[in-house]
Amino acid sequence: MKVAVLGAAGGIGQALSLLLKTQLPAGSDLALYDVAPVVPGVAVDLSHIPTAVNVKGYGADDLASALDSADIVIIPAGMPRKPGMDRADLFNVNAGIIKTLAEGIVANCPKALVGVITNPVNGTVPIVAEVFKKAGTYDANRVFGVTTLDVIRSEAFVAELKGLDVANVKVPVIGGHSGTTILPLLSQVEGVTFTDEEVAALTPRIQNAGTEVVNAKAGGGSATLSMGAAAARFTMSLIKGLQGEDVVDYAYVNVENGDAEYFAHPVRLGKNGVEEILSYGELSAFEQKAKEDMLETLNKDIQEGIDFING
Ligand code: NAD
Ligand code: LMR
Repeated sequence: MKVAVLGAAGGIGQALSLLLKTQLPAGSDLALYDVAPVVPGVAVDLSHIPTAVNVKGYGADDLASALDSADIVIIPAGMPRKPGMDRADLFNVNAGIIKTLAEGIVANCPKALVGVITNPVNGTVPIVAEVFKKAGTYDANRVFGVTTLDVIRSEAFVAELKGLDVANVKVPVIGGHSGTTILPLLSQVEGVTFTDEEVAALTPRIQNAGTEVVNAKAGGGSATLSMGAAAARFTMSLIKGLQGEDVVDYAYVNVENGDAEYFAHPVRLGKNGVEEILSYGELSAFEQKAKEDMLETLNKDIQEGIDFING
């Protein structure tokens, strides 16, 4: 198994790479790519951890070698938010970075499973898909927007609110990955009931959790450590699927005849990436309205990504 992390020297990239060095199956290769000159040093640093995962760093000119024969590519490359910015404000800077990296994937590992972390996820995932379509290598089952951070935050906040063991809390989150497009399905949390007031307070807390971190870091960036943990969890789900285990996880994927062209759903993962897009089930009246209200924003974000490649 070879996993490539693009943007590996950044805040998320380093946290994720650390976790992958300790969690990937023995014998795996971990390729760390970044345009920052520190990336070979990050690889040397990680290589001193005694696990059977081979780590190698690749600098700016070495994207092809980093991606060669990769089974999974995870992309946290690009600029994070500062206080006062929306994720959409990152589009102009990050769209070009994602396009270049997607072109590298087409050229070097077109069959890899690709997880996109770079914001705005609602638009960067369509960019990757359109680059792959242009090259004739698109497989909708292999491209994912990583929304696991919304899931783990929901688990943490629900457990905290209800005094539960977080290990037993599962919260479905659908939609996109920005503000109101993030929709936690609190009505579906097993064994837990919420008052209307709790739903009305907890839903926006989950939707604005990224901003909570951005403001707390006061100009020093956005979530990196929790995102590293989330991305490692999602990468391990992809790996288990590739190894033939039956795994269900949440991700922002291309959906035919769905609520929007891209929408976070529960997906069954397997040897080819998405084996099945599962229904998110029945929504409460609150969730149904929130879903309908988000679609204009989500569709606009998606179209911006598509137009960046085709416009
Ligand atoms: P960071 O600034 O700490 O790291 C970004 C890294 O990307 C840097 O090391 C930089 O050198 C590298 N980079 C820039 N251009 C590159 C290129 N062309 N090729 C390879 N590497 C390149 O930022 P961060 O905090 O790690 O955040 C990275 C991205 O992840 C941001 O866009 C942020 O908004 C996003 N993010 C997404 C989620 C999510 O839930 N999906 C959560 C948190 C952050
Ligand atoms: C998050 O949800 O923490 C990330 O999308 C980063 C951000 O800009 O909020």
